[in-house]
Order: sequence, then C-alpha cells, then structure tokens
Amino acid sequence: MSQNQNGTAEKFSATQAWGEMGEDATILIFGASGDLTARKLIPALYTLWKTGYLPKKSQIIGVARREKSDDIFRKEMFEAVHSASRTGEVTEKDWEQFAGRLHYRQVDITDATQYEKLKTSLEELETKLELSGKRIVYMATAPKLFLPAVESLDTSGMIPSVEDENWLRVVFEKPFGHDLASAQSLSYSLSRHLHESQIYRIDHYLGKETVQNILLFRFGNSIFEPLLNRNHVDHIQITVAESQGMERGRGGYYDQAGALRDVLQNHVLQLLCLIAMEPPALFRGDDIRDEKMKVLQAMRPGDEDDISRWAIAGQYTAAEVEGGEILTGYRQEDRIPEISRRETYIALEAFVDNWRWAGVPFYIRTGKRLPARVSEIAVQFKHPPMNLFTTVECDGDMCAMVEAKPNTLVFRIQPHEGIQLTCSTKRPGMQYQIHPVKMDFAYDEEFKTGLPEAYERLLLDVMRGDSTLFTRSDELEAAWKFVTPILEHLESRNQDPEFYPAGTWGPEAADKLLEKSGRHWRKPSVSL
Ligand code: BG6
Repeated sequence: MSQNQNGTAEKFSATQAWGEMGEDATILIFGASGDLTARKLIPALYTLWKTGYLPKKSQIIGVARREKSDDIFRKEMFEAVHSASRTGEVTEKDWEQFAGRLHYRQVDITDATQYEKLKTSLEELETKLELSGKRIVYMATAPKLFLPAVESLDTSGMIPSVEDENWLRVVFEKPFGHDLASAQSLSYSLSRHLHESQIYRIDHYLGKETVQNILLFRFGNSIFEPLLNRNHVDHIQITVAESQGMERGRGGYYDQAGALRDVLQNHVLQLLCLIAMEPPALFRGDDIRDEKMKVLQAMRPGDEDDISRWAIAGQYTAAEVEGGEILTGYRQEDRIPEISRRETYIALEAFVDNWRWAGVPFYIRTGKRLPARVSEIAVQFKHPPMNLFTTVECDGDMCAMVEAKPNTLVFRIQPHEGIQLTCSTKRPGMQYQIHPVKMDFAYDEEFKTGLPEAYERLLLDVMRGDSTLFTRSDELEAAWKFVTPILEHLESRNQDPEFYPAGTWGPEAADKLLEKSGRHWRKPSVSL
C-alpha cells in the first residue's frame, strides 16, 4: 500500500508496483550471428522470461545470413545464456520452455528480395501461434545496414502506419551516424519510412539501474537539489574508464570510431545531462528528454581556434603493469594500423552556459586501458568560506598543515554501485583535528537481489512502448553538434595524440587541463 498526499494508504495493483508488462510481440533480431545477440540480447530476454516479464506468447527470431536450423541457433544461444545468466543455473526444464520461443530465419538483410520470404514466414508463425502481428525489429547490425534494412522492410509492406494497432518498433544500436552531418542525414532518411515514435535509439547507459537512480536521487530528495548549482559546486568530474583494450576483434570498428565517438558522444554526455538537467514538470519521457535537450543546447561550443586547450586526446602505448603482465600498445593491437592516430582516451573541460551552471567546469573523460573499469560522476562542492580548521599531516619526518577536503557527492555507476558523500568530522582527541568520513550507500548491501542488466530494462521498455530511456533525434543531433568540431580538429591536425602507458590514468596533458585552475582528477574509487 502507498501513502497519498494526505498520508492515507492507497491500494494499488502489483502491475503498478512492479511496472507494466509489455505486449505480446514477435521480436526479430537482425544480425543474430553477432556478439551483441549472444552476449547481451538473448541473455537479457531469457532473464525477462525467467522473471516473468516476457509477455506470454512473445517469440524471438534470430535473422542472419548464415544457414542455420532453429536447433543449432537454440544450442548456440544456450551456451550464450549459460555463460551470461544472472539468475543462477539455467536448468534443462527452463531452457526447454524458453528455447521453444527461439527461431532462426536465414535472410541476407542486404538483399531486398528476401524480405517477402521473411514476411510470409513471420505471418505463418504468427497465425499458428495466434500472435497479433505486433513486431519489434532490433538492428544489431553494422550501422551501414540500418537504412537499407528499413527501406526493404518498407517496400515489403512490413512497416505499418503509427495508427495501426499492430505496431512496429525498430531499435537501433549505436553508432547512429559518425558526425553531425551523417547523423542528420540518417535521421532524415529514416524519417521517410518510420515515424519518430517507431524509432528506439539505444544508449545502454540509460538502462543501467544506477544511471536511472541519478534522477530519482536528485528529484526524490529535497536536501541535495538546492546545492547542485554554481553557488555551491566547484566542479563536476565524469569518468567512464575501461581497463580493456581491443579484445574480441574490436580494433576494426574502434579505429574508425575512437573514444570521442564510441563513448563520450553518447554515454558520457547522457550522464552529464542527467546530473545537470532541471527537474521535469512531470516524470514522463518527453518532459525528461526536453530537459536533457536544454542542457545539450547550453553546452558551450568551446573555442574552435584553440580546441587543444580544452580537449586532450590520448593513445595508449605498451607497458608492463603490476604482476609483470605486458599490455600491448594500441598501434600493435589486432586490426590497428601501425601509424594510427586514433584517440583511445579523451578528456574535455566543458561548460553548461545556463543560469544554474554558469562558470562551473565539467571535466569529462573516457578511455581504454586505464587502470580499472569504473564509471562515476563526482560533484565536488566548494571549500567552506573560511578555513577554521586545519590539521597537521605527517609523512615520516615531513609534516604539513592541511585543510579540510571539500565535500564530494559521488554517484558510482559501476562497479560497487552506490552513492557516497564525503564530509569532514572531528577526530576524537584533545585538538580540533579534521578527519574525512564517507557516508555510503552501496547497492549490494542495501539490496541483496543483484542489479538488472541494462538490456533487460531497455528491451522491456521497447515491449511496453516507453521510450523515456532512449535517445530522441534532436538530443542525438545536439550531442553530435557539440562533438563534431572536436572530431574534425583531431582528424585534420597532423599530430599524434598524447601517449600514455597502458594501465595508467591517461596522458599528463589531461592532468594539466585541471592543474591550470588548481584542480586535480580524482582517483575513482575502484574498491569499497
Ligand atoms: C559501448 C562501447 O557502447 O560501451 C564500448 O562501444 C564500451 O567500447 C562499452 O566498452 C562500455 O559499456 P559498459 O557498460 O561496459 O561500461
């Protein structure tokens, strides 16, 4: 039971409590032989099924060019689910029930003539299973296939009008464009076949539980929000760090993309929007996306004549790390040209020029082969107006007077998900000595159930027709608009990026970006 505003309890149904189920649909995965299908999509669909969120009759159809029977596809997917399952052992009984919904159709999606065959086979299956014909197409393919596939869906009559109760929803994986012009052109071309409400652009960061919690924590409490502005915040740091390099043959894609396109343009800017945006009038998809859009529009374009003063691109080099392991340098990685200048690290000093954030720097960074996989947003507050308390810290014979550290509020996106507030307290004793403490909320201590995977939430939302956690076309364009001049600068200059040894926190030049104003990068907390 919930309490209404008068404090009296109201009854509400389990569906309201746990969120709505989606509608029965046929889920087609284009690019079913790929890594994403096996590592993320099918395991997520399995978990939704196991936890009762996959609508009763829904069917899942893998679509790809290779010849394969339903049985072989099921066997492959069993291996995938078995190694990725977060709901414990996959029993034979469970698998048999789930696998009955898995099918495979051999279709070359680049060949428009094969869509009629696909359509007929879908209609047969839907009639046999008494499915209404509502469909989801998940484009887990190379981006260059997005448009041809949608065109072929249209010419074969597989795109219903938006008024049709047998809806179609098309999910696009990133990258959606490689710069502003290509993103605009793709959006325009797709809009000739699909209505915006039929398009779901995935940014899997938005599906992470901890990312969704940013808005709830900000706007569901009254004590923090009045402090999150230029009067109290010194600066904000956003870090998306990864320890991995070019594993699983990713080099081919990555050398075309780089850190700016691969992670900063989407995941990092989305995090920035969520920490910087104003409260929406209602907690509804478009109201939230309108507020995010205003943040992106307020982002200072930066001095284009001197981009290297506020944007630092880096690339990792071979290095020996603790334990004696030698990490390969980027230019020696599989599928990477020996002279590649592609950035594997990017750090920016950015500003959101609006009333709330005027003058507050946002330091944002992402990179591969950093010391750990850790993503966080750290809000660093200003120092108290007077230093009433200092203390002495000694290192061996060397002692120094130190000031209290400013408060920080850290949203730990991953790992060790949680929120941490650091404060100064008095160390017990006869003097006023400062002692920093952490007030900590850790998901795994508070909730023992484990966190849902981002793709579980996002796939469920597509089935529910809720696009709140997906990127709208204007948001996407605004993000590209901010990033494109930086990309053009990096790609046109005749210069290597700043090198950093693999396993370190990035190039020295990135440290100087903050040092010029007396600030420093945090060492993100990789352990509790
Ligand atoms: C993807 C990028 O979007 O995000 C990858 O293409 C990156 O390069 C990944 O590794 C990071 O996601 P997560 O959820 O592991 O932080």
